[in-house]
Amino acid sequence: MAFTQRVQKVRSSQTMAITALVDSLRREGKDILDLGAGEPDFDTPDVIKEAGIRAIQDGFTKYTPASGTLEFKKTICEKIETDYGIKYSPPEILVTCGAKHAVVNVLLTLCQQGDEVIVPGPYWTSYPEQVKFVDATPVILETDESTNFKISPQQLEDAVNPNTKLLILNSPSNPTGSVYTQSELSDLAEVIKKHDFHVLSDEIYHKIIYDGLNHSSLASFTELRDRVILVNGVSKSYAMTGWRIGYMAANSELIKAAAKIQSHTTSNPCSISQQAGIAALQADDAVVAEMVRAFDRRRKYLAEQLAAIPKIKCDLPRGAFYMFPNVAGYFDCKYNGKAIENSMDFCSFVLQEAGVAFVPGEAFGSSNNVRISYATSMENLRESISRLTRALLQLRDEN
Ligand SMILES: Cc1ncc(COP(=O)(O)O)c(C=O)c1O
Repeated sequence: MAFTQRVQKVRSSQTMAITALVDSLRREGKDILDLGAGEPDFDTPDVIKEAGIRAIQDGFTKYTPASGTLEFKKTICEKIETDYGIKYSPPEILVTCGAKHAVVNVLLTLCQQGDEVIVPGPYWTSYPEQVKFVDATPVILETDESTNFKISPQQLEDAVNPNTKLLILNSPSNPTGSVYTQSELSDLAEVIKKHDFHVLSDEIYHKIIYDGLNHSSLASFTELRDRVILVNGVSKSYAMTGWRIGYMAANSELIKAAAKIQSHTTSNPCSISQQAGIAALQADDAVVAEMVRAFDRRRKYLAEQLAAIPKIKCDLPRGAFYMFPNVAGYFDCKYNGKAIENSMDFCSFVLQEAGVAFVPGEAFGSSNNVRISYATSMENLRESISRLTRALLQLRDEN
């Protein structure tokens, strides 16, 4: 069958591929511990579920305005003001079917062939592929542990040219867990101000942040107000990945244009989920804080355990629920006569020998690292570490 060049250009999601592999190994009866998943292991809080059930019982099951209900938009504005101190009004909000949908909407609205989109790497696996959907070119700015996986203003300045249309910044980051501080953002804002491009600020993990750090946003720089598109949603903070609710906040003209695209593609996001979204954003912050405390305990445990494993290097991430250790120290090792040459090989060794699933860093543009999700129980983490340690010892023995 002849598919479009668009399809041929786009790689399948490697994170979803790991999930599929884990499922198939489990179907074969293998005992696999999945540290690959990018979703909270908690159940959606009751107060949110009840709002969804109420919406069904009240018959709130028809089309809503394509861009989302006014009530939800108002709630989003209130929440952004409480969390960030930034004022938006309902015409500056578009409710989407998840944050992923918001990113695609932005790209469809702003970018086309000939445009360049700057994406700091390691990046969330979907960004470069989504950029390719719209025939634009992803320009990856490589970073590593030496800068905590954060780009410098100079790096940004050097990458900008007349074709630059958009920067996608994700803080807290998937996969690295790094978080930009207000002063780092302020330095980047200086570069952005000087040039004529937009910024998509993906803040889907903004509530999942540790060590008393405050979340900072490029949207809080008033001089960038018309350039920044703030993308967020309820998936990660409220354990609502399946409800498919995200949103974007930006200049009303841009929102109107993106809403036009959305009205011809998905129409409105699920009416029931919008009602649940209102309940989420209005819920007591304690609901989120409790999950974040559990993530924090796991983060500290995992960091301590990984630090004790020879040849693995891992800094303590400050946000999201991922570790992104460097495993390049094992690249000279062999197992079953086969050399481990990159993180893909490392992950397949760990999956086969330890029955533990990580996501290879290649999915995020880094072949030296693996992504470990700690959105799983402490018990699973303990067992995973003990299996990993045993498997790695065997690796050393064969060397
Ligand atoms: C950085 C980042 N942005 C967006 C998304 C998508 O979120 P949603 O489930 O709301 O579409 C994810 C999910 O993994 C993510 O990690």
